[in-house]
Amino acid sequence: FNVPTPVNEPVKSYAPGSPERKELQAMLVELRSKQIDVPMYIGNEEVRTGNTRPMSPPHDHQHILGHFHEGDASHVEQAINAALGAKEAWESLAWEQRAAIFLKAADLISGPYRAKINAATMLGQSKNAMQAEIDAACEFIDFLRFNVKYMCEIYAQQPPVSGNGVWNRLEQRPLEGFVFALTPFNFTAIAGNLPTSAAMMGNTVVWKPAYTQIYSAQVLMEIFKEAGVPDGVINLVYVDGPTAGEVIFKHPDFSGIHFTGSTGVFQHIWKTVGENIKRYKSYPRIVGETGGKDFVLAHKSADAKAVAVGLVRGAFEYQGQKCSAASRAYIPSNLWEDVKKYMLEDLASMKMGGTEDFTNFINAVIDEKSFDKIAKYIENAKSTPGVEIIAGGNYNKSKGYFIEPTVILTQDPMYTTMCEEIFGPVLTIYVYHEEHFETVLDLVDQTSPYALTGAVFSQDRYAIELATQKLRNAAGNFYINDKPTGAVVGQQPFGGARASGTNDKAGSMINLLRWVSPRTIKETF
Ligand code: SER
Repeated sequence: FNVPTPVNEPVKSYAPGSPERKELQAMLVELRSKQIDVPMYIGNEEVRTGNTRPMSPPHDHQHILGHFHEGDASHVEQAINAALGAKEAWESLAWEQRAAIFLKAADLISGPYRAKINAATMLGQSKNAMQAEIDAACEFIDFLRFNVKYMCEIYAQQPPVSGNGVWNRLEQRPLEGFVFALTPFNFTAIAGNLPTSAAMMGNTVVWKPAYTQIYSAQVLMEIFKEAGVPDGVINLVYVDGPTAGEVIFKHPDFSGIHFTGSTGVFQHIWKTVGENIKRYKSYPRIVGETGGKDFVLAHKSADAKAVAVGLVRGAFEYQGQKCSAASRAYIPSNLWEDVKKYMLEDLASMKMGGTEDFTNFINAVIDEKSFDKIAKYIENAKSTPGVEIIAGGNYNKSKGYFIEPTVILTQDPMYTTMCEEIFGPVLTIYVYHEEHFETVLDLVDQTSPYALTGAVFSQDRYAIELATQKLRNAAGNFYINDKPTGAVVGQQPFGGARASGTNDKAGSMINLLRWVSPRTIKETF
C-alpha cells in the first residue's frame, strides 16, 4: 500500500508588494477593527456561558480583539459526553474518509484560510508574519498531510506471514474512550496537531487550548468544521487547567493525553493519572512534549559568523518562546570576539514592536506573568557579580510585553540562567578555554535536566563525531552547523526525552501509533 509522500508546504515570502503581504495586511486591519465573541464548541453546540474574558494582542494589551466564554466543570463533562457520543460513528468511518477530511483542512489553510490563521496568530500570540507563516500555515499543513500518509500506512499494515490454513490480520482500533488534548500558546501548529492527530486515528477528543491561544484556536475550529470534521469529534473547551483535570483524570473513559506545555504540569498530570489508575478501562497513553534548556556549542574550528547567526536566530525568533529555542551557549575563547561582534551587529539592526509593522523582528512575550518572570531573571543577572549583560537588558510593559533580546555573559557555567528554563528572549553565554572541548561536552550534558534540542558548530569532523556520541542523550533533536529551532515535519521528527517529554516525535508514525491499540486476529480454515 503506497501513499505518495507529501511535499512540504512552500513558505511564502511576504516581501514588500507581494500579493500575500497585501492580503495579510488587509486581514490584520479587518481582525483588529472588530471584536469577536468566541463560544466553546461542544458536540453540535456553540456554548456561550456569559462568563466572558477578553483577548488582546500581547504587544498592545489595551486593544480588545474579542471575548471568549469561559466554562466550568460541567462543560468538561458535556465535552466528554459529546466525544463519547460521537465515537462509534467516527471510528467506524473508513479511514480513507477521515483522511479526506484532514487533507481538505490542509488545503483550506494552504488557500482560503492562510491569511486568517496567520493574522490570528500574529495578533493573538504576537508572532511576526514570517514566524506565523512557518507555524500556523506551513507547519500545520505539513502535520496534516504527513499524518494522513502515516495514518493510511498504519491502517493498511498487515502481518507479513499467513500460510496454509491460516489467515493473520491486524486491526487498528482507536483507543477505547476519549483523548484529552492540552495545547500550548507558542505554536498554532502544535495546538492544531495535538487534537487532529488523535482524531485522525479514529479517536474523539476534548481539546483545551492555553487561554493565550484561543484567538487562533477558534479559527482552527472554523477550519475543522468547514473541512467536515463531524460534531463531537473535536470538542473545544475553555476551562482552567485544574478544573479540567479534576473531571478528565477521574473519568473511567479517559484513554490518553496529548500534551505540550511545562514540565511541572506534565509531571503533575502523570502523578494524577497514576493516582487514578484503577478507575480507567485501559492504561492511558501519556504523550507529552515539555520543557527545554536548549544549547548551542561551538568548537574552536567553527565558522564564527555561522555561530552568531545560529545564536541570534535560534535564541530570539519568536522572542525565545519556542520549546526548541537556544538559551545557553558554549563558545571557545578563540572565536569569542568575532562571534560577539557579529551577534551585536545583528542585534543592533533588529527592530522591536507590534506584529502589524512587518519590519519588526522582535515582538512581545505572551503575557504579563511571563514578562515578570523573564524580567526577574534579567534583574538578577544585573546584580550578580561575574555576570554581565552584553546586549539588551531593558523591558517595558506599558503598551505591550516587550523585552529586548538580552545576552548574558557568565564565567560560571552553572549560573542560574545557564540551567533553568526561562522561555523568553534571554541567551546566556559561557566562554570556555578553546582546548577544553571535551570537558565542555560533559558540562553540556549535565547542566540541565532537559534534553530537547541542541546544536554543535564545527568544521572538524572528529569534533563533530565526538559531540554526536557524547551528547547522545542530551537532545532529541541534534543539529550540526545549524540553529536548534525550526524542525520541519517529515524531515526532522521533533521531540526530546529526559525532562523534555516522552519523545513520541510529533509529526511522525511513532506519534500516530500511540493513538491506536491494535488487535491481532488469527483465523484457521
Ligand atoms: N517544531 C518547533 C521547532 O523545531 C518547536 O516546536 O522549532
